[in-house]
Amino acid sequence: FTLMCASLRSYRDIMTIEQSKKGLERVIDASANIFELKSMRNFAVGVLDQLMALLHIETDAVYVHSGGLAATIDDGRMRVIAGTGQYSKLEETIADETLSIQALADLTRAMEERRNVYCDDRFVGYFEGTAGIRYLLYMDKIRNLNEIDRNLIDLFTRNVSIAFENVNLHVDLEETQREIVYMLGEAVETRSRETGNHVKRVAEISKLLAKEYGLSETESEVIKLASPLHDVGKIGIPDSILNKPAKLDADEWEKMQTHAIGGYEMLKSSRRRILQAGAAIAYEHHEKWDGSGYPNAKSGDDIHIYGRITALADVFDALSSDRCYKKAWPLEKVVNLIKEERGKHFDPQLVDLLLHNLDSVVKIRDRFEDNYEEAA
Ligand code: C2E
Ligand code: SIN
Ligand code: SIN
Ligand code: SIN
Ligand code: FE
Ligand code: FE
Repeated sequence: FTLMCASLRSYRDIMTIEQSKKGLERVIDASANIFELKSMRNFAVGVLDQLMALLHIETDAVYVHSGGLAATIDDGRMRVIAGTGQYSKLEETIADETLSIQALADLTRAMEERRNVYCDDRFVGYFEGTAGIRYLLYMDKIRNLNEIDRNLIDLFTRNVSIAFENVNLHVDLEETQREIVYMLGEAVETRSRETGNHVKRVAEISKLLAKEYGLSETESEVIKLASPLHDVGKIGIPDSILNKPAKLDADEWEKMQTHAIGGYEMLKSSRRRILQAGAAIAYEHHEKWDGSGYPNAKSGDDIHIYGRITALADVFDALSSDRCYKKAWPLEKVVNLIKEERGKHFDPQLVDLLLHNLDSVVKIRDRFEDNYEEAA
């Protein structure tokens, strides 16, 4: 009997450590994969797991995954950002509409009193950052907590408050970077009198191709954020060339081609990952698979995969859109040219992926349709 009790106890401890480890891993993942859009969610789930382990949640003497959720307050409304157990269905919902009256009352009390709340078998954690952003964690069906448990949990939530703030700052930084990239890309387009959506379509099509090609979620997100910078070098091209409503002469064409190096020079000194990727893309988006491109006549795999992907996305979209020097082509004609250029201009594998996913690509085009009246 004694042996059995001891064994069960060590089994319980091992399970607790295991759960705690899983929570910690998720928290680490959340910081590592900050490019993934749902990183705040991953982080919140990690915190919930750790809290569960701390609380030793037991029901009927069996360890089960009880439920919990994380919410944030936006414009006075409480929004669920993450859920585990029975609460996983509620992610992205407005709390007033989906939570029980009991849970809402507990959450409201924590918010009003601005502290952790313990009542019966429920716990609400309250987290407040300096920027006035507040997070709440809610868990139910937990065991009764003694004084020591509560002190431990209060300590944990004080530490986690800082981490919540860090994740939030990181997301903010990433969003700022994203906005600047789009603004730069759009500034170039406005000068060349294209409508603002070309860079967004190139971004989405590039991400789709990156994922299909087998790049990781993080890399696919980097290319999505960086590909709008492919033509920033056009800032250095005079209006008379950039907006010439006719074919360029030899001198003008020579000048136009310098936009690839120009963009690379602008971006290359940044240490930011997205801007570095933007530098490589600006430099190589006019290289061609068969070595006939510019500025360096690189070929095949020597062209960075980001450059190869953006080249295909850019040409697909440039052909499908009006330009000062040409009208938009119908889809069939665009597809024919891309097939013709398979293995010449473009990486054959990428062409196959684009054709295989043509429906999704066309959907992206329709979602970010040009509005010529607005542009005029
Ligand atoms: P863009 O307008 O953004 O076009 C990007 C790429 O799409 C072009 O790179 C080219 O590969 C492809 N593309 C666009 N329109 C056509 C087309 O009618 N036929 C074919 N076969 N491909 C097309 P590319 O050629 O290196 O040109 C780079 C940039 O140079 C263009 O960017 C555009 O800003 C400028 N450009 C090229 N040709 C002319 C022109 O005849 N007149 C003027 N004003 N600008 C031109
Ligand atoms: C030009 O010579 O005007 C552009 C040539 C090209 O689009 O390849
Ligand atoms: C960030 O700091 O959020 C972006 C990371 C990077 O640019 O390397
Ligand atoms: C880069 O280094 O960012 C691209 C330039 C190259 O690959 O030569
Ligand atoms: Fe270009
Ligand atoms: Fe472009």
